[in-house]
Amino acid sequence: MKKILVNGGKPLYGNINVSGMKNAALPIIFACILTNDACTLENVPCVSDVELSLRILEEMGAKITRRSKTTVDIDTSRFEGGFSPYELVSRLRGSTYLLGAELGRFGEARVGFSGGCDFGTRPIDQHVKGFEALGATVTIENGCNVVKAGATGLHGASVYLDIASVGATINVMLAAVTAKGRTTIDNAAREPHIVDLANFLNICGAKISGAGTSFIKITGVEKLHGCNYTIIPDMIEAGTYMVAAAAAGGRVNVRNVIPKHMETVTAKLIEMGATVDEYDDYITVSRAGRLRHANIKTYFYPGFPTDMHPQFSALLSFAAGTSTVTEGVFENRFKYVDELTKMNANITCDGRTATIVGVPRLTGAPVKAVDLRAGAALVIAGLAAEGTTEITKVESIERGYDDIVGKLAGLGADIRMVEVPDEEGLRDAK
Ligand code: EPZ
Repeated sequence: MKKILVNGGKPLYGNINVSGMKNAALPIIFACILTNDACTLENVPCVSDVELSLRILEEMGAKITRRSKTTVDIDTSRFEGGFSPYELVSRLRGSTYLLGAELGRFGEARVGFSGGCDFGTRPIDQHVKGFEALGATVTIENGCNVVKAGATGLHGASVYLDIASVGATINVMLAAVTAKGRTTIDNAAREPHIVDLANFLNICGAKISGAGTSFIKITGVEKLHGCNYTIIPDMIEAGTYMVAAAAAGGRVNVRNVIPKHMETVTAKLIEMGATVDEYDDYITVSRAGRLRHANIKTYFYPGFPTDMHPQFSALLSFAAGTSTVTEGVFENRFKYVDELTKMNANITCDGRTATIVGVPRLTGAPVKAVDLRAGAALVIAGLAAEGTTEITKVESIERGYDDIVGKLAGLGADIRMVEVPDEEGLRDAK
């Protein structure tokens, strides 16, 4: 079993390189199913959710060739739809995209219920609404979502999403690119990874416009061809390291970023008293003196990203004054609070709002990464805390961060990953 050990109090200095975006790579990997030509993807992050997605495709007949740490060829000419490895699919949310991709290519899909971080119920009713609008039927059989196009295949439709859902927007796009006629998605998600997916699909021959706005137009095409594509940088990984620099102090250049994607994080850090300077493809963060309290309300892009919520709660835990964080996207994203409390944080939750009374210092403690971004928040807290923080369930963090320990150690953090005998690790993880 692995643990991350952090000895806090060391300022961070130097350059940190951001990897490709996990939440852009996942839909693009599954989108490769839509063409039976080979695709080459570059700047793919080395994270376990990506590895799992590639394994799912491989078990379903795709040929996966890793050309380097971050470049992979995906050939789905022999991909067989219709069944998906239940256990693997149940371990990540991104496997939901099999529904749209297989429906788009084969006219049907049978996929077990996906997994992912536990923020309460994570329904797919908006995905289903989109599939049915395109002429498919959706049923549940033996624990699987079964989607089937009608006898004449999928047809274009006007889809209005009741929620600007990232997953639903992606799945409707995947199904609609080869549907007969024109599809519109109103109240679509506007996240940068929606734009990245649309760019990838258009290079493969799709006809999509309006991605990045709340109104996306798709004209169905006969078939898609393969392509070479480079994934955008991960805005959440970049934001996490910007917060880490503000937490630990020092001066850090967060490189390989698109500053526009970081606007809300930049604005909030400046409001809290950090110094943030933007350049073409990197952002410098430094902090002198104690940070100030702030209030955060997460919302769909371009609102404050929900995936930066736990990281900012860690930072606000030792800022001067009282702050609030209101979660506007998920039912319950507060499981990290118990773990920060073990580190002397003073946080109370009421419904979707956490009230954080800043304490002078956090203190190191044995804590567990209850989900991906909660784990990142504990690393950030550990960097600033007095003493040693031991983080278990590090596999949650490895789902979305490529070598977080190595990257932070490269900035001077006293952080390492250690192997512990299972019985010791299990005892701590309880
Ligand atoms: C994606 O999840 C991301 N996951 C999440 O990142 C991210 O937090 C989320 O988008 C919002 O940005 C991946 O990309 C793999 P949603 P997704 O559909 O698609 C409700 C991370 O840390 N909803 O936009 O599942 C839903 O319950 C992860 O990297 C419905 O009610 O998010 C939630 O409350 C965590 N019905 C809200 O909408 C639906 O059919 C937003 O969900 C779909 C969603």
